[in-house]
Amino acid sequence: MRVLIIGNGGREAAIGKKLSEDRRISKIFFAKGNATTEQIGKNISLTDNQELVNFAVKEAIDLTIVGPEAFLVSGIVDDFTRAGLRIFGPSKKVANLEGSKAYSKKFMQDYGVKTAAAQIFSSYVDAKAYLETAHYPLIIKASGLAQGKGVVLAEDRDEAMKTIHDFMIDKIYGDAGIKVVIEEYLRGFEASIICFSNGKDLFPCIAAKDYKRAGAGNRGPNTGGMGSVAPSPEYTAEHDQDFRKNILEPTIKGLKDNYLMFTGFIFFGLMITEKGCHLLEYNMRSGDPETQVILPLLENNLLDTINNCIDGKDIELKFSDEKAVCLVMASGGYPGKYETGYEIRHLDRVQESSVLLAGASTKAGGVYTAGGRVVNLVATGKSFDEARNKVYNDAKAIQFDYAFYREDIGKF
Ligand code: AMP
Ligand code: GLY
Repeated sequence: MRVLIIGNGGREAAIGKKLSEDRRISKIFFAKGNATTEQIGKNISLTDNQELVNFAVKEAIDLTIVGPEAFLVSGIVDDFTRAGLRIFGPSKKVANLEGSKAYSKKFMQDYGVKTAAAQIFSSYVDAKAYLETAHYPLIIKASGLAQGKGVVLAEDRDEAMKTIHDFMIDKIYGDAGIKVVIEEYLRGFEASIICFSNGKDLFPCIAAKDYKRAGAGNRGPNTGGMGSVAPSPEYTAEHDQDFRKNILEPTIKGLKDNYLMFTGFIFFGLMITEKGCHLLEYNMRSGDPETQVILPLLENNLLDTINNCIDGKDIELKFSDEKAVCLVMASGGYPGKYETGYEIRHLDRVQESSVLLAGASTKAGGVYTAGGRVVNLVATGKSFDEARNKVYNDAKAIQFDYAFYREDIGKF
C-alpha cells in the first residue's frame, strides 16, 4: 500500500512512525512533513487540495490521512472522494463542527450535549449590550478557526468589551471573529477523548491530558500543547460514564439525525468540573500532542483500524496498561515571537525516547529549528515516573539555542 499523510507536526510524525512499522505499506508520502517524516518516507511540498488530488492519482495512493483542521474545513475529503480516492476524515460540512464554534454550540444545545451555557452573536451592538449586564469572568470565542488563539478569558467588562471590539470590529482574526460565542467560564481540569468513527458509531480511545500552558504549574499563555500523557489519571470511570451518557451518546444521535456521520477522528475537548464533564469543543481530527501518547499504547494495528472504519466495520480498541509521556521542547519566545534556524545538536544521544521532530527541518546534513514546537520526546513505562525519567533524561541531551520545556509534564 501507498499512503499519503497530510500535515507537518509531531502528530503526523507519530502516525507515520506507527504505519511505517507495517510491512504491507511500501511507501509513505507526507505533505509537507518535517525532519522526522523525511526519514520515514518522502516529503512533498504541495499544500493545495487539487494539487494533492492530482498527486494522489499520479502516485496511485491507496489511503490518505489528514492531520490538520484547515485542510478538512477547506473540503479536502470532498475533493479526494470526488476523484475516487480513499481518505480518512470528515467532509467539509461535517468539519464545520470544528470550523464554526457557533454552529457546534448550536448543535450541542439542540441535542442536549452537556456544555457551558452560551450565547451566540453576529451583531456587535447586541454582543455589547449583553456584556453590559453580564457576570464575569466570561469566555469569549471567535467562531471561526484562529489557530487556537481565538479564545479569551475576560475577567471583567473592560476586557470583554475590548475583546469583542478586536474580534468583530478590528477583525484581528479576519472573518473568523465576526461571529462570537460568549460563554460561562468553567473551572476544572481538561481531558481529551479521541475517537475513531466508522460512519455508524464512535469508538473512544483512552483519555489523554494535554498541558496547554507555556509554563510549569499551568502558568503563562496558552500554546498548541507543551506535553501530554495517557491515560489521564485524573479521568475516572465515573467521568467516563458521565461522558458517554451526556456527551458521546447525544453527539452520535445529532450526527445521525443530521446526516453528519463520517469516517475519521473526532476529538472531544472536555472540561471536568464539580458538576461533571462538559464539552468545550469538537475537533474533527486527532489531537497534537495527544496522538503522540495514544498511538504507542494502541494495541490494534493502525492500518487495519483505519481501513475497517472506512469500510464501516466495527472495531474494538485495545490499549496496553503502560503509561505514555510526551515532552515538547520549544523555541524560546513561543507561543509569541521566536526565531528559527538554530541547529539541533546531539539528537543521536537520545537513548530511551522516541524522537518526533515537529518544527524542524534538515539542511546540509544538519537539523535546524523551523517552528515553535520543535522536538517531541515520547516514552512509555510501567509508571508515569518511569516514562517521565526517560523523556527528561533525553531532553537534557538535546541542545539548541533558546530551547525551553516544561519541567512538570507527567507530574499532574
Ligand atoms: P476551545 O478552542 O474552545 O477548546 O478553547 C481553548 C481553551 O480555552 C480550552 O482548552 C480551555 O483551556 C479554554 N476554555 C474554552 N472554553 C472554556 C470555558 N467555557 N471555561 C473555561 N475555559 C475554557
Ligand atoms: N491538543 C489540542 C489540539 O490538538 O487541538
